[in-house]
Amino acid sequence: MHWYAAEYRMRAWAKWSLRRVRAVGPKAVVLGHPDVDATDLEVGESFKIWSGHRKTVISGGGRIRMGDRVFVNCGTTIIAVQEIVVGDDVAFANEVFVMDSNSHGVEGKPHVQSPVRIGDGTWLGNRAMVLPGVTIGRRVVVAAGAVVTRDVPDDSLVAGNPARVVRSLTYPAGCRRAWHDEWGCPCPKLLAAEADLAAEPA
Ligand SMILES: CC(C)(COP(=O)(O)OP(=O)(O)OC[C@H]1O[C@@H](n2cnc3c(N)ncnc32)[C@H](O)[C@@H]1OP(=O)(O)O)[C@@H](O)C(=O)NCCC(=O)NCCS
Repeated sequence: MHWYAAEYRMRAWAKWSLRRVRAVGPKAVVLGHPDVDATDLEVGESFKIWSGHRKTVISGGGRIRMGDRVFVNCGTTIIAVQEIVVGDDVAFANEVFVMDSNSHGVEGKPHVQSPVRIGDGTWLGNRAMVLPGVTIGRRVVVAAGAVVTRDVPDDSLVAGNPARVVRSLTYPAGCRRAWHDEWGCPCPKLLAAEADLAAEPA
């Protein structure tokens, strides 16, 4: 019962907190007071954003598109001047930083400004940083503190500064997310276990 009440409150709060977002799918929830003032932002269904011990910010005049079931945790900053595209089932942990512009040029050259793409099911660990022009593949794990300066292939774990591929990842058939958890994960194993439970005689 408490859970339903909390969910109801977070959904109601999302309507206010995300009021400047161009399009928000159903079942969005917001916890805390994020600054979401990006002028061309669209998010899919079940968008979840937390802003607790650090303020979460999604800002800029660039195009930002996020898929379904995206989770943005406390203190994450996403700023687009050109384009940032995020797939379905992507998780941003605490204090992740994603930007598509360097803001200042090096050696008197114009500053780099280039789109960022993050594939379906990818998990960005705490304090990971994604630099302009980077494309991260599907079901990638970006380890905590990694600075991603180059494209990352699907199904890989990257770590370090600059981030390097540590190893390839193997998932059970049908698995959509790199960020597996025991609750609410659309993992085929868990879905099958739930179906078994439901089929058991009372
Ligand atoms: C990536 C992570 C999940 C570990 O995954 P794992 O599959 O268990 O990886 P391992 O511990 O086997 O590490 C594999 C290699 O990567 C290195 N590595 C792992 N995490 C690293 C990191 N954050 N930075 C640098 N190197 C790292 C390990 O040292 C190891 O290197 P080695 O093969 O030379 O010994 C974990 O290290 C991590 O980053 N956790 C952060 C999770 C997080 O941010 N949670 C937020 C909640 S939403």
